[in-house]
Amino acid sequence: MITVRAPATSANLGSGFDVFGVALDRPADVIRVERADRTSIEVTGVGSQYIPTDPDKNTVGAVVEALEAPAHIQIDKGVRPASGLGSSAASAAGAAVALNELYDRGLSRKELVPIAAEGEAVVSGVAHADNVAPSILGGFTIATADGVTSVDTNIPLVACLPEIAVSTRDARQVVPQTASMQQVVETVGNAATLAVGMCQSDPELVGRGMADPLVTPARAKLITGYEQVAAAAREAGAAGVTVSGAGPSLLAVCPDNNRRAVATAMLEAFADTGVDARAYQTQVSQGATLL
Ligand code: HSE
Repeated sequence: MITVRAPATSANLGSGFDVFGVALDRPADVIRVERADRTSIEVTGVGSQYIPTDPDKNTVGAVVEALEAPAHIQIDKGVRPASGLGSSAASAAGAAVALNELYDRGLSRKELVPIAAEGEAVVSGVAHADNVAPSILGGFTIATADGVTSVDTNIPLVACLPEIAVSTRDARQVVPQTASMQQVVETVGNAATLAVGMCQSDPELVGRGMADPLVTPARAKLITGYEQVAAAAREAGAAGVTVSGAGPSLLAVCPDNNRRAVATAMLEAFADTGVDARAYQTQVSQGATLL
């Protein structure tokens, strides 16, 4: 039996829609695999009642198929589904790393990224790699059609998860289909700033580079209290705040290691709008690990 811990992730980071991602040190899924003639899936943990166990409908089914690695797969969910923290990606990433090991396929971590991304297509309709890449490789990742680049970095973060659900499919419906040249120029500048900030482990630059005129304003409307919570985080010292992935979580960058104050401010602001939430004081971390 092989056991892998696959971390939650935050995709987009504002200016890097469908491209940027970071691994978080918590929460995480734990995936156990053992060889079997036919694939079966068992799911426990947070939100497990919403996750299909039919391999054709579960994110790990596509991974099993791509690696030709039938197995009994136990998924212990630590990452809530529909949270914006890469829940389906953590399971797909963990399964890809575990099955590669179990069947001795010898694929590199980078080669496993497109395989795990196929699992994302099952859930959202698009095989985007911006969550599976950091969950497999760790650090800050840039996933494009030409491949994945990753860099280790040290950035303190708060991920605040409200008790509301936003499906990735629904959140993709509100993404604008066109952009003005001014918005494109602004986005390129912000994304470049963010990437430099990651390379230099500079939270101020990362926070500044998260600003996004395109996707985030449209998605913020799906999250009750978004504006109030983002303002509260900034007031408490966050260098930048954005929607984590497709939402509803918010991600805040904390320059002075003031994560506790930012987390408290975000939770109070959600509470003021009548929404229960929980906050993870976290940081950019390593990718999937064999236990
Ligand atoms: N880039 C994806 C999106 C991440 O924002 O739709 C969510 O899976």
